[in-house]
Amino acid sequence: MTLLIKNCTIVNADGMQPDMDIMIREGRIAEINTNITERAGVEIDAKGLYAFPGFLDLHSHLRDPGLTHKEDIATGTRAAAAGGYTTVCCMPNTKPVIDSEKTVRYIIEKAEKEGFTDVLPVACITCGMQGGALTDFEKLRDAGAVAFSDDGLPVAGDEVILCAMEYSKKLGMLLMLHEEDLELRGQGVVHDGENARKAGLAGIPRAVEESMTARDIFYAEKLDAPIHICHVSTAGSVELVRRAKKRGVPVTCETGPHYYSITDEKIADRNPNAKVNPPLREMSDLLAIRQGIADGTIDAIATDHAPHSEQEKAQEMEAAPFGMIGFETAFALTVTNLLETGVISLEDIARLLSKRPNELLKREGGEIKKNAPADITLCDIQEKFVYNKEEIVSKAKNSPFLGMELKGRVNYTIRKGSITYDRQAH
Ligand code: DOR
Repeated sequence: MTLLIKNCTIVNADGMQPDMDIMIREGRIAEINTNITERAGVEIDAKGLYAFPGFLDLHSHLRDPGLTHKEDIATGTRAAAAGGYTTVCCMPNTKPVIDSEKTVRYIIEKAEKEGFTDVLPVACITCGMQGGALTDFEKLRDAGAVAFSDDGLPVAGDEVILCAMEYSKKLGMLLMLHEEDLELRGQGVVHDGENARKAGLAGIPRAVEESMTARDIFYAEKLDAPIHICHVSTAGSVELVRRAKKRGVPVTCETGPHYYSITDEKIADRNPNAKVNPPLREMSDLLAIRQGIADGTIDAIATDHAPHSEQEKAQEMEAAPFGMIGFETAFALTVTNLLETGVISLEDIARLLSKRPNELLKREGGEIKKNAPADITLCDIQEKFVYNKEEIVSKAKNSPFLGMELKGRVNYTIRKGSITYDRQAH
């Protein structure tokens, strides 16, 4: 099986090559050249399109097993492919949670059968995600888990987090931390600011996230143990990570497109689709997130794709679950709010959506080069569109971006040489 991509501009983290042809054979990039004359089984005319290394999402919720009324592996990875992703990590707050080899294997096997992307399970740090005894990291790794997290919940106990850091350090695996002081959050549902007060909603102060981020950076420094901070949302968290990196602490972090695209103004009308945890913050935070992305403090963009059913999200703000879908808007939000605003370059998009996420998981992808796996995302960065519900591929529709005009579209997603998404065919 051969696939030839004609006349694209290749965008890698370290530079661009215009007017290139890419020949793919047996799932790998066989040749990159200015004019490949050989014919292929499938050919794509990619004039005007940019070829990025396939996107890797470090943080998503596929809801499978057990919560498949929200999403499942087939629908979730189909939505991911539509968003340009060739690989996604799935978080363990499923039902049951991913704390056994059996559940890790279930996900991998189902993804092999039904998936439109590679799926990399993130296993729990603690048994049952209860915050107590650690899971068996080695067994879970051997079954196929790529990282550890109790995402959705913090690891509150100091002794537990210290043990987890030592254990993941020993194995050289990513420890992905959801930073939240649940006691301090109390009944909070949105960012604690003017908009919360106007809407009559209980607030979540920035300190809920920052105090735990500071604690974990402190312990990571003591142990010289690598940690990865999930979904950074405040200016203070960015500054904590920036200073820690300067001191040589082995800390990395991610943020989500919503944190550099919209603010807590979106909750003013009590729209449950704008309820997310950590919450949408203020303009000063949004600008600090953009700055953290520009200066490399923030390593990666991760969607935190968190699908919920329409029924669940139809509830009042207080009762509706936290979370918003993210696969299908991540690229456009990045083009619209980071590229168009001059915060980052096209090469930075390749770094933030592919190269760094691959590096953090110690994987070989993230670059378009000869002999690399043929994971490629072909995009139009000029096209504008209005994001509407009818077009959503995900089973869930909970997005605060519905009705918004965005710029930047994914035209094709190619995974190991096969087309997993073709916009014209949709
Ligand atoms: O908004 C969120 N939704 N934040 C989380 O930490 C969990 C996630 C979910 O699972 O729905």
